[in-house]
Amino acid sequence: LDIFRRELVDVRGVPLFWSTVEEWSQVESFESHPDDLLISTYPKSGTTWISEILDLICNNGDVEKCKRDAIFKRVPFMELIIPGITNGVEELNDMQSPRLVKTHLPVQLLPSSFWKNNCKMVYLARNAKDVAVSYYYFYQMAKMHPEPGTWEEFLDKFMTGKVAFGSWYDHVKGWWEKRKDYHHILYLFYEDMKEDPKSEIQKLLKFLDKDLPEETVEKILYHSSFDIMKQNPTVNYTTVPKFSMDHSVSPFMRKGILGDWKNHFTVAQYERFEEDYKKKMKGSTLQFHSEI
Ligand code: PPS
Repeated sequence: LDIFRRELVDVRGVPLFWSTVEEWSQVESFESHPDDLLISTYPKSGTTWISEILDLICNNGDVEKCKRDAIFKRVPFMELIIPGITNGVEELNDMQSPRLVKTHLPVQLLPSSFWKNNCKMVYLARNAKDVAVSYYYFYQMAKMHPEPGTWEEFLDKFMTGKVAFGSWYDHVKGWWEKRKDYHHILYLFYEDMKEDPKSEIQKLLKFLDKDLPEETVEKILYHSSFDIMKQNPTVNYTTVPKFSMDHSVSPFMRKGILGDWKNHFTVAQYERFEEDYKKKMKGSTLQFHSEI
């Protein structure tokens, strides 16, 4: 299929899928609703995990209700437009409020309607080295991406921001800075969710002005754990056709751990990465767990 493995196209300096760019005016003019909850992430940062948690929260822990459809239907990926396959903008337009909206857009490309409507936003960040590894496997299995090349080549593209949705560094910093003048952003970390998922769920509840009984929270914790989600066809992406995502290359629910970069970075790659990281993150107050 010639719609796959095509080169990315820039929108204001950010590389995006060619088909998203062709339909960019649709994305840019997307109409949010004031009660939309935006889930914003750089790719491979735990989007599916937090989406499932938020859908469970919105449905008061009703696990069966959260199996009503695949996660990418319950939480449409706004700017994902692939001709004949999906159109996030149209799916959202057809959806009843309250809606959960997924985006990977850097803060400066978010449709202005979200700011105008004062929508609540949850941003989830994950450490750069684990994201790079996860993204490398995802590029291989998900065919809307260009060919990733070797790990060495991919790492280079990651470090220079020549991957879908652009620079990880600009993305995490951009959303971090935005919190200063826009107060409806809850900024969370994948590493904290792994360490203490309960406390992160409590933060989400507080942010959403919601209260759930202890047993419901426990139920949500169980159903959003990696092992359970990996077995759940409504969240593990196995219902996506093989020509689009090939789980025999690498499953979507791959490992879900901290520090898998240690199994992939050579010492030389690590040193080069860290030196470059310091330069790119210099002056920012944003901190990731250092011991990962
Ligand atoms: S995407 O395509 O950008 O929306 O992918 P995203 O969901 O952001 O990221 C996928 C990675 O998240 C891991 N994952 C989880 N980790 C821990 N717990 C749970 N429940 C969970 N669900 C998904 C998934 O395994 C991918 O990370 P890697 O490191 O590749 O395993």
